[in-house]
Amino acid sequence: MEPTRDDAWTLLTEFNQKEALRKHALAVEAVMRYIARKSGENEEKWGIVGLIHDLDFEQFPDEHCQKTGEILRERGWPEEIVRAAVSHGWGICSDVKPESEMEKVLFAVDELTGLVAATALVRPTKSIMDVKPKSVKKKWKQKQFAAGVNREIIEQGADMLGVDLTDLITDTIEGMKQVADQIGLAGGSRISRSAATTPERLKAAVRDVVRQYLADEEAERLEELDTVFDDLWETLSESADQYLEEREEGAPVGLGFDLGVAGAALVGTACWVALTLLRAAFKDSVKRDIVPRLDALEKKLAARTGRPRLVRKIRARVQGILESV
Ligand SMILES: [Fe+2]
Ligand SMILES: [Fe+2]
Repeated sequence: MEPTRDDAWTLLTEFNQKEALRKHALAVEAVMRYIARKSGENEEKWGIVGLIHDLDFEQFPDEHCQKTGEILRERGWPEEIVRAAVSHGWGICSDVKPESEMEKVLFAVDELTGLVAATALVRPTKSIMDVKPKSVKKKWKQKQFAAGVNREIIEQGADMLGVDLTDLITDTIEGMKQVADQIGLAGGSRISRSAATTPERLKAAVRDVVRQYLADEEAERLEELDTVFDDLWETLSESADQYLEEREEGAPVGLGFDLGVAGAALVGTACWVALTLLRAAFKDSVKRDIVPRLDALEKKLAARTGRPRLVRKIRARVQGILESV
């Protein structure tokens, strides 16, 4: 038999009721399709393999991969697809080594879709549309972030394929974008929409303030300012992440409060940076003007949040960014 996409979906949903597992299957399918299309391979076949690779996971987690092989063979699925599905667990739950291009891509992107999804979920928008390869690489280095994602496997997969990790991340993001809605990463809930407008509103406010000080010929500096602002915002989002994690261990202060205070502090800091950028001796003015300001801000935030260590960390990162401008 030559299974169709419909056959694959019917089989997947017969064995998997959990929403998360179905979304994972759809994400891997989309990435397989994207890469197949890009490299002129059989998109349908690659997609089907992506869709059913974890077929047995909900019902037979202890026999993962083995059971998938059994089920597919029982139902007369072609050996090429069976082999590919089983090989994704090479070295963990199967001894079938990925050999074809399709198998290697599946092996490499399976775990990576998890890291990309986790990265999307901590963006203010909770949308895959905003995820840049750079953000995923940052998260890659934070071992405690999405700790279940095995980075070594992904690296091994990229090596097998002989592709650059950044390219693989880029393709994975692009593939997942195609099914953003189905995998719940399109953003757009009421809460995430309002969160999404926050950085844009802050940025606009900063631009307004700074524009007053700029001569016409300096107006292009506003773009520089946006970059600084984006870096600051990313630092803030990461701190908020970490804050949420710590909060689960019983930290006392509300996230909204922290974000509000930190957001206001950011606008102030960003304005200050922008004005300072206009002066020639920026490095000097970091020491002269910004450090005392950050000292004061740190004291105030530490007192109000009762989280001196966290505040010190945020401050150090903000100062690091300013010093590297
Ligand atoms: Fe798996
Ligand atoms: Fe998987």
